[in-house]
Amino acid sequence: MRLHESALSTDLQGRHLLLGVTGGVAAYKAAELARELQRRGATVQVVMTEAATRFVGAPTFQALTGEPVFVDQWDARVDNNMAHIDLSRRADAILIAPATADFIAKLVHGLADDLLSTMCLARDCPLLVAPAMNRQMWQNPATQRNVVRLRTDGVQILGPDSGDQACGETGDGRMLEAEDLAEEMTAFFVPKRLAGRRVLVTAGPTFEAIDPVRGITNLSSGKMGYAIARACRQAGGDVVLVSGPTALPTPQGVRRIDVVSAMQMHEAVIGELTGSGSPPRRQQLFISVAAVADWRVTNVSGQKIKKVEGKPAPKIEFAQNPDILASVAHLPDPPYCVGFAAESEDLERNGDAKRRRKGIPLLIANIGHQTFGRDDNEVLLIDEAGAQSLPRANKHALARELVSAIAMRLDRQDQKSEARDGR
Ligand code: C5P
Repeated sequence: MRLHESALSTDLQGRHLLLGVTGGVAAYKAAELARELQRRGATVQVVMTEAATRFVGAPTFQALTGEPVFVDQWDARVDNNMAHIDLSRRADAILIAPATADFIAKLVHGLADDLLSTMCLARDCPLLVAPAMNRQMWQNPATQRNVVRLRTDGVQILGPDSGDQACGETGDGRMLEAEDLAEEMTAFFVPKRLAGRRVLVTAGPTFEAIDPVRGITNLSSGKMGYAIARACRQAGGDVVLVSGPTALPTPQGVRRIDVVSAMQMHEAVIGELTGSGSPPRRQQLFISVAAVADWRVTNVSGQKIKKVEGKPAPKIEFAQNPDILASVAHLPDPPYCVGFAAESEDLERNGDAKRRRKGIPLLIANIGHQTFGRDDNEVLLIDEAGAQSLPRANKHALARELVSAIAMRLDRQDQKSEARDGR
């Protein structure tokens, strides 16, 4: 499933990308990629090899990007005849997709016999490469050696994927799909503020069963929690997402654990945080975004409750669910805990009271209570130093801001405890 259109429009805003297309059948996917990158706010300029034009015509890319497409290094449209310098100096990054085995080999050796390879050699911006080739070509020791070499040279390799190939064979070498590549490109530009950190996020609603077909839930869509998990991953975190029932796709690179009820969410969260293993994989950051049901039904019926004419409506009995966030905050040596809250009045005072009650260092309060299901949000960050508001933004852009604000506090807390321990 595709991530929502408007929510992603700021992902690559202000970025100018050079998309290099080389001669493989996956060149057709580069057309979709150009669209996807633009959908996320980037401007895209396409440079093709001569062989690539055998697969997809330059006018296709020109029409999609609204920018002239370059193939020839002697193109008279560039005044000083130095297209390789001119084009790469304006780019924030060059992405080669698809990259053939031949083009990868050329990059390794610094060959410059056409516009695209010359541009890569003359670049002063990052280079990312999405290989696409037959599985035997990919597995060939020459290609494998070349890829290792490119990595050592600081080139980022995206993929390849595994699966059906155009030649009819199956294996490694397929180019990543356009959306995955755009996702990698977005992540590439996010500062790695959570590198090496393990993060646990909860998201979505919970569902409390009444009988096998009925239950009580709430209007949480999971969008904010999923955006937070995605932003943590893009910031370099190792992310586990414990999710109530939602219809959202799992963010790339995130491990997702599905639960239904609040009790299951509690068990999954505590299990992740106290789980065994050697060495124990303890999370250092817990971000509790889920809208957890406060009560569960205690007289759940094993059979569908029947409506019988003349009989009174069934009585539903409730017990209070555990407060997951508060129980995590009270673990011995807890992770850094962040809560989310919807308060309808006196946000700062009530928010701070809730923060203290739960025993957490940071609470993020939604400004205005109708945030459920929307693509944007506006919040107040409340910690012991006071409150700071973040302007209304789409949930993905806001999540990036929040993750950077959380990472700053986490670093500060680490510094404090190091100073205290005399390290
Ligand atoms: O108490 P309230 O529901 O307003 O608190 C919101 C915060 O507490 C959210 O971060 C939510 O994920 C968390 N919470 C929880 N377990 C509950 C209720 C809320 O973790 N049973």
